[in-house]
Amino acid sequence: MTKPSILVTRATFPEVLDKLAQHFEVEDNQPDTAWSKQDLIARLKGKTGVFTTSGEAIDADVLAACPELRICANTAVGFNNFDLKAMTARGVLGTNTPDVLTDSTADFGFALLMATARRVAESEHYLRAGKWDRWRYDLFAGTEVNGSTLGILGMGRIGQGIARRGAHGFGMQVIYHNRSRLPAEQEAACKARYVSKEELLREADHLVLVLPYSPEAHHAIGAAELAQMKPTANLINIARGGIVDDAALAAALRDKRIAGAGLDVYEGEPKVHPGLLAVPNVVLTPHIASATMPTRLAMGMLAADNLIGYLVHGKPLTPLNPEVLERK
Ligand code: DGY
Repeated sequence: MTKPSILVTRATFPEVLDKLAQHFEVEDNQPDTAWSKQDLIARLKGKTGVFTTSGEAIDADVLAACPELRICANTAVGFNNFDLKAMTARGVLGTNTPDVLTDSTADFGFALLMATARRVAESEHYLRAGKWDRWRYDLFAGTEVNGSTLGILGMGRIGQGIARRGAHGFGMQVIYHNRSRLPAEQEAACKARYVSKEELLREADHLVLVLPYSPEAHHAIGAAELAQMKPTANLINIARGGIVDDAALAAALRDKRIAGAGLDVYEGEPKVHPGLLAVPNVVLTPHIASATMPTRLAMGMLAADNLIGYLVHGKPLTPLNPEVLERK
């Protein structure tokens, strides 16, 4: 029996490719060459499955050009690179990788919060530049973390992980805003209090963004929202580029309208707004919140299991549009 053909769009772990090769004819991209949309379409023609990262857009054009495609398995929990509506209309299943990255991403959110509050990157650059000549009482004095107010916008699994770390590890008062309020027992587990978005902006000493990207979430934090934050507050974005208006944030940081920011994601990444590169009070990392080797391997294995689950056994593990399965 011939094996179905799949495409793996980016370099991945050999273990993941070995697993896929047991079930599929695999075209991979281990040199990790950057493909244009046309390159992607050319390679995807005739394939029944694709293993993607959040960098490859699977939109209506790609779907129309590749009618044999049956499943797109994203190696990410976020899936704003998928046009899920178009996929559903064409009967193409989408899958993502929830759960396996929750803790390492929440750890990183907290690392970025700490680095921003305590000015870790800025002070390290100062030291490496040979500028440190003596101890001073206010040298890189930052914002208090323990006992402060942690605000979380978007209270899914990762948001709750950050809330637990803040409440139980650092004695923080946790407030959150989300499209829907959590059940009482989940709020109690992370000692979190539901508030309006206005109260969240006004009260948070550290505001962490963990909401999924959607057109409604575009520029959820812009000039007006930044103006409502405390001048001593820090903003942390580990969600998606586009949720923050990066130009407005750069201006707020430049004018010290907020104390600092820690960013892992950017509008139009891998490009970074030049205004953010020009200010010292921001910690900038290259979209690495889930990047530990065990977590990245688990993400790759889950994406592979989704391809195998669907194309071989008819049962994907983490479908995004299960209505496609119901139609079969
Ligand atoms: C995710 O899982 O969504 C991460 O941001 C990786 O893209």
